[in-house]
Amino acid sequence: MAELELPQRQAPDALMLTGFWYRALPSDRVHRQRLHKATLLEVPLAIGRDRMGQPFALRDACPHRGMPLNCGCFDGENLECSYHGWQFDVHNGQCQLIPSLTSDQNLKVDRIYAGSYPCEEQDGFVWVYIADPGLPGAGFGPPAEAPDAAPQVEKFSPKYKLAYLQAEMPVSIDHGIIGLMDPAHGPFVHQAWWWRSRHSIHEKKKNFEPIPNGFRMSAHTPSSNSAPYKLLRLYANADSITTTIDFVLPNLRTETIRAGKYWFSSLTTVTPITRNQCRIDVVAAWNIFRWMPLGTELLKFVFAKFVEQDRRTMELQAEGLQHNPHLMLIDDADRPAKWYFQLKAAHLEAKRTGKEMKHPMPGPVTLKWRS
Ligand code: FES
Ligand SMILES: [Fe+2]
Repeated sequence: MAELELPQRQAPDALMLTGFWYRALPSDRVHRQRLHKATLLEVPLAIGRDRMGQPFALRDACPHRGMPLNCGCFDGENLECSYHGWQFDVHNGQCQLIPSLTSDQNLKVDRIYAGSYPCEEQDGFVWVYIADPGLPGAGFGPPAEAPDAAPQVEKFSPKYKLAYLQAEMPVSIDHGIIGLMDPAHGPFVHQAWWWRSRHSIHEKKKNFEPIPNGFRMSAHTPSSNSAPYKLLRLYANADSITTTIDFVLPNLRTETIRAGKYWFSSLTTVTPITRNQCRIDVVAAWNIFRWMPLGTELLKFVFAKFVEQDRRTMELQAEGLQHNPHLMLIDDADRPAKWYFQLKAAHLEAKRTGKEMKHPMPGPVTLKWRS
């Protein structure tokens, strides 16, 4: 059944979900006492670390006259705007000093705030919580509280390796995400002589189930499509290997592969930068190959290849999308994409009404496709 759905016709303000944690920058690119620029959901940010190494994120615009704060002077504690020297506490944005004030002018400096965002470091990334926007035209106050901690890659033993990869893609968050969960592009996009060709297409059947804010491809013995699976098979009996893949709003894809005491786990995010640009970050943790010097390199090589193939595809797709073509999603191969749009709509509806979110999946579902 070819039910039409039009990802391009989402309301523009529904494109990017606020009220969630997003990956901003890899930790190793954020240095002490320096300021770095980043953009999340079209919000310009100045990100840095204080003297103690604690990261922070400010809106990259001075509340006085809009000068980018990343051009300011940072002493490891307060940030001084480069235009008129107003100083701000980097962790809560509170104004500390306005140099132009005379002793008889009693402007309440401490009631002025630069925009600031909850900021945490997790698995080699600085995460920033982008709260729902305040009333239009209102200035900034103290930072919002994040309702929970930033997401983590799940680990199953005390010792493991961790690596990340990222790629920017010139498409909206929706195309980035549905590209990530799309089961049918593999044989066409991810061809390699050492991997598979389009001749290896065969029918697949997978069970899915609803989970809070998302859906799960239930634990199963993986078909031979996943890179870590091929590597794990060198270590463990093929039947003992199980994989579980979760998608959770706004942008989290978790893949867990377990084979006895060996495991591989990844948390991939697609982060909206602007409405036409997103970035994919794959952070993986594993305990196979820890003893083998080339193991990490091998795994990184395989993943880099995949991510580059996806990036290149979306770069080309962006050319086609420029003129706003009609698009369609088909069953069953695009059903995860449909669930994504339905989850997003249900989430926004729950927020609007204050009622509990109505999950779009009534219960477990089996999908079939060829790939
Ligand atoms: S613009 Fe920042 S102090 Fe004036
Ligand atoms: Fe892909």
